Amino acid sequence: MSKKVLVIGGGGRCHAIVDALSRSPQVSKIYAAPGNAGIATAAECVPIPVSDVKNLLEFAKAENIDMTIVGPEAALALGIVDAFREAGLKIFGPTKAAARIESSKEYAKDLMARHGVPTAAYRTFDNFDEALAYVKAGPIPVVIKYDGLAAGKGVVVALTLKEAEDALRDMLLDETFGKGRVVIEEFLDGPEFSFMCIVNGNRLYPLAIARDHKRAYDHDAGPNTGGMGAYSPVPFVTEEIKQTALETILQPVADTMVEEGVPFTGVLYGGLILHKGTPKVIEFNARFGDPETEVVLPRFDGDFYEFIDAAVEGREYEPKWKPETVLGVVMAAKGYPGHYEKGHTILGLKDVTTPVYHMGTGTYGDKIQTVGGRVLMVLGEGETLAAARKAAYASVNKIDCKGLFNRTDIGAREA
Ligand code: AMP
Ligand code: GLY
Repeated sequence: MSKKVLVIGGGGRCHAIVDALSRSPQVSKIYAAPGNAGIATAAECVPIPVSDVKNLLEFAKAENIDMTIVGPEAALALGIVDAFREAGLKIFGPTKAAARIESSKEYAKDLMARHGVPTAAYRTFDNFDEALAYVKAGPIPVVIKYDGLAAGKGVVVALTLKEAEDALRDMLLDETFGKGRVVIEEFLDGPEFSFMCIVNGNRLYPLAIARDHKRAYDHDAGPNTGGMGAYSPVPFVTEEIKQTALETILQPVADTMVEEGVPFTGVLYGGLILHKGTPKVIEFNARFGDPETEVVLPRFDGDFYEFIDAAVEGREYEPKWKPETVLGVVMAAKGYPGHYEKGHTILGLKDVTTPVYHMGTGTYGDKIQTVGGRVLMVLGEGETLAAARKAAYASVNKIDCKGLFNRTDIGAREA
């Protein structure tokens, strides 16, 4: 019964996974690679980078790890799941081939088109002049996405033709992101939500719905980020909408991947938009969302190891969720998602009584300092969204760090 688990990652999502595992009666030891200052309070951190598949595998073998859970997409795209499985080790996540549902927007779009999964109309280009002519002939706003992993930053919602042209120039001529190729998409208008399902082939285990806030500043101004705050559940996503999304989007995509010989295992994350009452796909991710995981897992009511093990083995399991709302506010380094400073000392954490997940922190002597762009995810819980929001911001106000900023309107629209 006493299981040893390795969690790969060093952000807030990893901290939330470690925290959920620490509540499992079956788990006796948790390692995190590489972890961070907050994770270190609940797991033993091992300084192996997420991209060092060889050493992660050696570590897992040497320590007789019973289960490895992968957080970040970078490790998945390197084939960590394939490598662990080949070595006969249990690991939770998709294979490199299945992870293409996230790493290649073109693969995801083509798969949806072949099977009538509702999503924005699109075309793919690698030639600047052809792409520009297509944009000029169509409606504005228009959405331009770099095809490949760009850590959530390779997307431009162009509100003017000039913005669209600049984006195409960046992605196709200047090769800012690498080898240029773009997907140009119809702009869909509506509220967004995140629907994560744990998947094993055809079997889906839906998680609670969450809502992210992707833009850097209040009122959805500023650049796109990895996410500046989230909450769960999401009042406008009714049980009926969730069911429709499951039947028209998540289940058909999982089934198609099985049919096409690339069965998905792990977390299939649908970034969805409610467009004129119908859920449609904005994007897929092949992993737990960050910061969505930080508000979804605290609501999980059960043995998290049991859930993950059931999913990896394909057993039946029905996850249960606490009815309370959990809302989290990201505190990020000033300048994020652009250039930012590191090394600011964080004070006041001891005065905070609600949970705080560390996203980018390190320990220096007895001080906790900022080491990343997104630094803390500060949570509040309540019977209503408004109460959860109030609790989270009361905690945010206790944290004192001159290098950090946060949005003040997480959850405000629906509360
Ligand atoms: P993605 O990385 O594909 O999730 O895109 C990042 C953000 O850009 C999304 O969360 C949306 O806010 C916005 N976005 C992407 N595609 C579209 C679309 N087709 N219509 C409207 N907004 C979009
Ligand atoms: N919060 C969006 C993501 O995890 O990509």
